[in-house]
Amino acid sequence: MSKAKVRTGIVGAGFSASFHHEAARRVYCADVEVVGVHAKTQASTQGFAKKHGIQAFDDLDALLDGVDVLHICIPPALHEAVAVKALERGVFPIVEKPLTGYFGDGAENFDGRTASMTQARNGALDSIRRMLAAEAQSKARILYAENWVYAPTIQKEREILEKTKGQILWMHGEEAHSGSHAPSYGHWNLAGGGAMIGKGCHPLTAALYLKRVEGRARFGKPIRPATVTARTHALTQLPDFVDTGHIRADYVDIEDFAMTHVTFQDGTIATVFASDIVLGGVHNWLEVCAGNHRTICNLNPSNQLQTYNPVESQFDDIYVVEKIGTKQGWAMTAPDEDFSHGFPQEIEAFYRAVANGDDVESNSELAADCISAIYSGYVSAGNGGVEEPVTLL
Ligand SMILES: NC(=O)c1ccc[n+]([C@@H]2O[C@H](COP(=O)([O-])OP(=O)(O)OC[C@H]3O[C@@H](n4cnc5c(N)ncnc54)[C@H](O)[C@@H]3O)[C@@H](O)[C@H]2O)c1
Repeated sequence: MSKAKVRTGIVGAGFSASFHHEAARRVYCADVEVVGVHAKTQASTQGFAKKHGIQAFDDLDALLDGVDVLHICIPPALHEAVAVKALERGVFPIVEKPLTGYFGDGAENFDGRTASMTQARNGALDSIRRMLAAEAQSKARILYAENWVYAPTIQKEREILEKTKGQILWMHGEEAHSGSHAPSYGHWNLAGGGAMIGKGCHPLTAALYLKRVEGRARFGKPIRPATVTARTHALTQLPDFVDTGHIRADYVDIEDFAMTHVTFQDGTIATVFASDIVLGGVHNWLEVCAGNHRTICNLNPSNQLQTYNPVESQFDDIYVVEKIGTKQGWAMTAPDEDFSHGFPQEIEAFYRAVANGDDVESNSELAADCISAIYSGYVSAGNGGVEEPVTLL
């Protein structure tokens, strides 16, 4: 049987656009043609187009006219507008994390550190509502690019939960490293917050997802978040912070540490840490403590491969692992980091949804629960950690 032809476009030409392009090229279930790219400047659009042998589009509408799928790989503040535009044309938006958020009140001197978090939550919930409404009106669906859902370790835990009907009592997890590379990160009005949304959304979504899986397996319906307690800190902005140059420290108005504690509808819990202050490469993991089993999902690092390199320069052109500070000595070298992070599996699943109408695990409801929980987390953190309800949309 011949494979369905799917035409695809990419908006954005930075870090995530590159791994989306790579994953789209590797799709097996459909015959994917990457038509072209549109980014902020002509130079970046043309540079990306030339590098990958695709067409450069100065105009997003022109790109949308010729595609079935749009990979949205641009700063979070732009996700809603572009996704809604795609949905209005029946184009499937693959939306990078976080789905959306609150990006200030438009004032030039907006400062996330002193802003009203109640207003932030209302703004984020309104944005989610607009996206869900556009999806409801569209023949396309939102495909939420949360790669943790598709990471092999998380998918193995899905199988365990489905087959053993286990009850998760507590999950704890973390995403951390020594600082995001993206220039937009650090400005609330571009990123919608700091570590809690930028990094915490990953383990949080995985935890929300696994509780949904448990609910589906045990009762035929997902178990969703009910309340959140959170704390945030800006450790690199402390007056006495000792800057040794190993940690990025130029954030403008965001937190670089967050602890988010979620209570689910059944009273069980998840605790997620997110930060920009951890050396030694990315630290991405989720541990599941169920009544009938325990699982440690190590996304990165994992010890599948360990290398010892006595001379730094020997590994100059060898990729070791994300955000590692040195390649000398022992390292948990990643044999296939994209695979461990779930990127190709995620994109394959999205094209199965487009080509065959398959359900997606990382859908708009999961994304909405994540953003809603995070902004209740910001309200809680603003009140010193008081428990806040999570609005389910
Ligand atoms: N899943 C992951 O692990 C992961 C990793 C990195 C980034 N991301 C997400 O990907 C998204 C983009 O981050 P990034 O790291 O690729 O950022 P980046 O800074 O590397 O690239 C951003 C791109 O957006 C483009 N852009 C900015 N404004 C635009 C506009 N108005 N119109 C068209 N293009 C515009 C820029 O030209 C640039 O190419 C963010 O939502 C981020 O959270 C996800």
